[in-house]
Amino acid sequence: MLEVENLVQEFRREFEAIKNLEQWIQARDRYLSRERGLLTRALRSIGRLPPEERPQVGKRLNEVKEQIEALLEQRLSELKAQMTAAQLERQRVDITLPGYQYPLGMRHPLQQVREEFERIFVRMGFMVMEGPEVEEDYYNFEALNIPANHPARADQDTFYITTSLLLRTHTSPVQVRAMEKLQPPVRIVCPGRVFRRDAPDATHSPMFHQIEGLVVDEGITMGDLKGTLEFFLREAFGSEIRVRFRPGYFQFVEPGAEVDISCIFCGGNACRMCKQSGWIEILGAGMVHPNVFRFVKYDPNKYTGFAWGMGIERVAQLKYGIDDIRLFFENDLRFLRQFN
Ligand code: DAH
Repeated sequence: MLEVENLVQEFRREFEAIKNLEQWIQARDRYLSRERGLLTRALRSIGRLPPEERPQVGKRLNEVKEQIEALLEQRLSELKAQMTAAQLERQRVDITLPGYQYPLGMRHPLQQVREEFERIFVRMGFMVMEGPEVEEDYYNFEALNIPANHPARADQDTFYITTSLLLRTHTSPVQVRAMEKLQPPVRIVCPGRVFRRDAPDATHSPMFHQIEGLVVDEGITMGDLKGTLEFFLREAFGSEIRVRFRPGYFQFVEPGAEVDISCIFCGGNACRMCKQSGWIEILGAGMVHPNVFRFVKYDPNKYTGFAWGMGIERVAQLKYGIDDIRLFFENDLRFLRQFN
């Protein structure tokens, strides 16, 4: 019995000294370990006592064991609470500090215009298609009814790679590629980069962007061309604008048209932006030339269609009042951030 009470005293001292989880584990193992625990051993040694002492000592030891277990359990939850509190203290968040500013990118103004136009046509049931920037002479000229040595080729100053390979001078070759792949009805828009041998200045860039459109089906008329483009231009520039079609010449259409909108700056009166004319030229269009259909093996007696092409930089310049095309390509963030 004396030994049991000594054990209790010893435990009390050690228990008081427990400051952390390690010491707690040590104490638990020292008293309660299944193999070498002091209490476990004491319980095991009861058998060696004189039989009359066994019940009393056994009862006391079991009491002590329960107490020790309960005390340790309680201390463990205290330690855990302490550790959590200490951790919270260490990780204290100062909610008055400013947050991190993650730099957000934005789409280039030309990309914004391109996507806006694509969306308008997609709503009308058009499909977006793209073609190669390095193009064959055949697609850029030949199949668009511009034969070799035709003077019209001089209209567009071309970057040639070989005699038959070039940087496309317009997005019109995608029309031909599309018709080779698809059967009517065809309704596509083709945005992309084009290249011309122009010295850069405020209004010229050797690389710029166009968006091309093509509709082919049975019974397509000039009325469809006018209706589609008028709808598009009103969506793009505002429902109040007026649209004007003038005769124009492009080898791959007949008849061809130059399409103007009433000046978006002065409402069509006369100002510097429209050179006092009240009108701004915006795109070229026309009814697809039968020869183009012959190149792609569409029957020109069965099908008719219309096409148009427009410059994206020019439109973006008008929309945002940008007076120098080079600004689009200089990647000056002071310029680009204005389109956020
Ligand atoms: N490809 C012409 C250009 O770059 C623009 C154009 C005019 C495209 C008339 C067309 C069209 O599809 O029908 O100047």
